[in-house]
Amino acid sequence: MSTATDAPLSLARYVLPVYRPRALVLERGQGSRLWDDAGREYVDLSAGIAVCGLGHNDPDLVAALVEQAGKLWHTSNVFYSAPPLQLAAELVEASGFATRAFLCNSGAEANEAAIKLVRKWAAAQGRSPDRRVIVTCRGSFHGRTLATVTATAQPKYQAGYEPLPGGFRYVDFNDIAQLEAAMAGGDVAAVMLEPVQGEGGVMPAAEGYLAAVRALCDRHDALLVLDEIQSGMGRTGTLFAFEQDGATPDIMTLAKALGGGFPIGALLAGPKVSESMQFGDHGTTFGGNPLAAAVARVALRKLASKQIAENVARQSRALREGLAALDAEFQVFSQVRGRGLMLGAVLRPEHAGAATAILDRAAYHGLLLLQAGPDVLRFVPALNITDRDIAEGLARLRAALVDHFAAG
Ligand SMILES: Cc1ncc(COP(=O)(O)O)c(C=O)c1O
Repeated sequence: MSTATDAPLSLARYVLPVYRPRALVLERGQGSRLWDDAGREYVDLSAGIAVCGLGHNDPDLVAALVEQAGKLWHTSNVFYSAPPLQLAAELVEASGFATRAFLCNSGAEANEAAIKLVRKWAAAQGRSPDRRVIVTCRGSFHGRTLATVTATAQPKYQAGYEPLPGGFRYVDFNDIAQLEAAMAGGDVAAVMLEPVQGEGGVMPAAEGYLAAVRALCDRHDALLVLDEIQSGMGRTGTLFAFEQDGATPDIMTLAKALGGGFPIGALLAGPKVSESMQFGDHGTTFGGNPLAAAVARVALRKLASKQIAENVARQSRALREGLAALDAEFQVFSQVRGRGLMLGAVLRPEHAGAATAILDRAAYHGLLLLQAGPDVLRFVPALNITDRDIAEGLARLRAALVDHFAAG
């Protein structure tokens, strides 16, 4: 039997081994720095996979959490409390298109709700089940529930979970001709995509792509669902990435940075669909609990600020310049792509597959970094990261690359 005195890492055998965390135990954080239980310090360019948009231990988020924790944690959705109502109103207002919000607990749950909302909307139009197809893009990532993993058009996430739910069709991202062909039969109820694919390699929508998708959806009376779970909340330089694309969605999903590290998800519904689900049609016990909503209200206010947008632009430039300098020294990246502080450095073909090894070296040198597949280093730091932390992070990445290439 384990005891409280056992070293935490020795307890990992009790956890379903669906993750492969690095062998370090993080204990506390401040801004974009973290410390492990041995007292080692790290620069954090991962932000909990694009979650901690305001870094760690943000004083305003902590104050909101503590204040709400002393008042009321949970009411269920059979009673009202103020924070979720206020958050819903503020999200609707900030979105510029939505008229109602549904609050839940995670990204997958928000996307699951979006898929169900599409089907309800289509059903109410008298469309038979075989004419409620949702088109998604190869390389996408929409979550791990059965429906969202089916929407996720990547076989590696689906293998072994068959039979998968029906009603999904896949096209290549950024290929408008393929989408046009996929919609030609008139059986498509929605197109669902990420404005910048995150897990699929940090791949931004090409210029004009989202507007063209919107036009196709309008022509075929289909909904446009944008998954802004990773790209939203200021990460790409605007509060929502779609603002840069001249295309307004009918449904948008959020999670990750929405709670600044506290679990929460949201679905925002535009006027076409916001009455499609009625009493009893959907629900969640914890979704929209006052604790999560109180924190998310503060995160939203801060992430929507001009200072954050300016810092994202500034640090994005600094990161791109730093990565270009590293490439000039090591000939390691073929491309740096993405938007704002959602950047992917693509390894040159001769270094394909080396992302994991580089990340191991980075952690050794005190840098926490992510990958997006085997060939892309992914940079999704806190949006309030400082000049100093970016510079130090790049210096530690350089040390990791020196090691990596010395090891051959
Ligand atoms: C774009 C996108 N959608 C959905 C999800 C799933 O979110 P969650 O892990 O909160 O269920 C993720 C998570 O990485 C994501 O990046």
